[in-house]
Amino acid sequence: MSLEGKRILLGVTGGIAAYKSPDLVRRLRDAGADVRVVMTASAQQFVAPLTFQAVSGHAVPEGLWDPAAAMGMAHIELARWADLILIAPATAEVMAKLAHGHADDLLTTLCLASEAPLALAPAMNRVMWTSPATQANRALLEQRGTRILGPGIGPLAEAESGPGRMLEPLEIVVALAESGALAGVNVLVTAGPTREPIDAVRYVSNRSSGRMGYAVAAAAAQAGAKVTLVSGPVELTVPAGVERVNVETAADMYRETLARAKDADIFIGAAAIADYAPANPAASKIKKKTPELEVALIRTQDVLAAVAALEKPPFTVGFAAETDDVEANARTKLETKRLDMIAANRVGPGLGFETENNALTVLWRDGKKDLGEAPKRVLATRLVEEIARRYRAKNGND
Ligand code: CTP
Repeated sequence: MSLEGKRILLGVTGGIAAYKSPDLVRRLRDAGADVRVVMTASAQQFVAPLTFQAVSGHAVPEGLWDPAAAMGMAHIELARWADLILIAPATAEVMAKLAHGHADDLLTTLCLASEAPLALAPAMNRVMWTSPATQANRALLEQRGTRILGPGIGPLAEAESGPGRMLEPLEIVVALAESGALAGVNVLVTAGPTREPIDAVRYVSNRSSGRMGYAVAAAAAQAGAKVTLVSGPVELTVPAGVERVNVETAADMYRETLARAKDADIFIGAAAIADYAPANPAASKIKKKTPELEVALIRTQDVLAAVAALEKPPFTVGFAAETDDVEANARTKLETKRLDMIAANRVGPGLGFETENNALTVLWRDGKKDLGEAPKRVLATRLVEEIARRYRAKNGND
């Protein structure tokens, strides 16, 4: 989505990161957007409305009952005016209000009265961000299609460090500008672990939570793609706008994915598919009769390699989870499986499986990019942006 000519309503709420918001206005305007600012009362403790008036070129309404604003543009008109509502910084308080449909000031009333897409750039103390209440509100907002940009990880106010930093103004502008990067593109994603039955009640599996794949599916949908997610058993809700196909075993994953791969423009293999499955699963429960039990395992089919080997393969992206020689191993996989891109995943203490954070480097035939260490949702957005860029370059649209 180009921001040229876009009408952006910027909501500023009361966090210290509000000092960056005038710069955000400038950068949005540099990208060609028309920006109007609405501030909450607490935001006005951090930055004066006059500052935003100067940088946006529009008066800042003082609140729901501002008589001057009502003469200029009343809240319903403002709600209709916006092509996009962006709240930056978004406090825990405004997220809670939006999640529950409150409308007790101008900004929250506008959000409720508008049909424009909503994007939030949260900024708060790390404990507030990770608190179950804020995370439940975030999940609820995301389910309804609200785009959550960040937060980033790094130094926070109060001499602390962790997740909670508002993304830098330029990062917000880039994320918004690329939000339609996959409009009209069919994306097929695999995610989660598989379960390979040993007998009627037992299985072999792995520690994959499915979070990275789900975050990638959500980010692709946010970028405008039509997303199908072939998912192993996980405890995650389906992201807004994504169609999920549930599978259990590697063989199911292979069948359901290959059946859809020909219609996909982009394939992203994020599933942790079992490489081996019991050769002869017992139909009933195995009784403990012998002191030892051997279960013969046989190789499963490689879904990713099979998709990449299709006659007309989609743009194919794989993942490589590595503990050592991350890049070299990933590059070997890129070449042997004939992929367009691979996301190399450092796994180890605090990173990778069952964790909130991840660290990724993407590689393609003649290049690479380090996407840094961040929460999986943030990394997924960066990864999808990179995939969209390489996909367009391959198809000669760049
Ligand atoms: N993959 C797949 N089908 C399989 C196994 C893996 O599609 N049966 C995909 C994964 O979704 C991921 C990539 O292949 O995108 C991982 O590559 P793989 O070579 O399996 O990596 P590892 O499991 O790390 O393998 P190795 O033990 O060889 O390092």
